[in-house]
Amino acid sequence: MSNGDVSQGRRRFLIGATSVVGGVGVVGAAVPFVASWNPSAKAEAAGAPVTVNVSKIEPGQQITTEWRGKPVWIVRRTEQMLENIEKLNGEVKDPQSEAPQQPQYIEGIYRSIKPEIAVIVGLCTHLGCVPSYRPEVAPADLGEDWLGGFFCPCHGSHYDLAGRVYQAQPAPLNLEVPPYRYDDDVTLTIGLDPEAA
Ligand code: FES
Repeated sequence: MSNGDVSQGRRRFLIGATSVVGGVGVVGAAVPFVASWNPSAKAEAAGAPVTVNVSKIEPGQQITTEWRGKPVWIVRRTEQMLENIEKLNGEVKDPQSEAPQQPQYIEGIYRSIKPEIAVIVGLCTHLGCVPSYRPEVAPADLGEDWLGGFFCPCHGSHYDLAGRVYQAQPAPLNLEVPPYRYDDDVTLTIGLDPEAA
């Protein structure tokens, strides 16, 4: 192969990589960022709890809020999404989330207080990039086995819709679940434990 062939191939690779990143950016931009629910910057810096009304989150929708300077995702998972999480028990590294990546009162494969509402810190456990929400099943770029989840564009870690990392990924652990509690049926506060806990 001549040098010309090598640089051709490299150029093709770079073009491919750029269009993947572009695609991820578009998905990210479609996710609403809920700035209005944040307390003042000063209170937030001090780690104040953040209260969120989840009643307007549509089935399958993700919103992002911020707690202690970290993005926190809230996703309303559908029945189908919950079934897909269960199907992945054999594909993820730590299906029951035995590593302490969540408070003690969060147990089981869904990693949430109510199965339909996921609350997850949106930072990859590899080197801290923000993964993209990829709820679709079998998209061309993630393959036909993909059942919805989160994809980290930095080094390609795959997580399911409970934030459980797949086997053989750069990321060592499931995504973190923050402490949170329900104040009533539709209001949750991130940063406070349930009163019983
Ligand atoms: S930071 Fe996510 S895979 Fe490396």
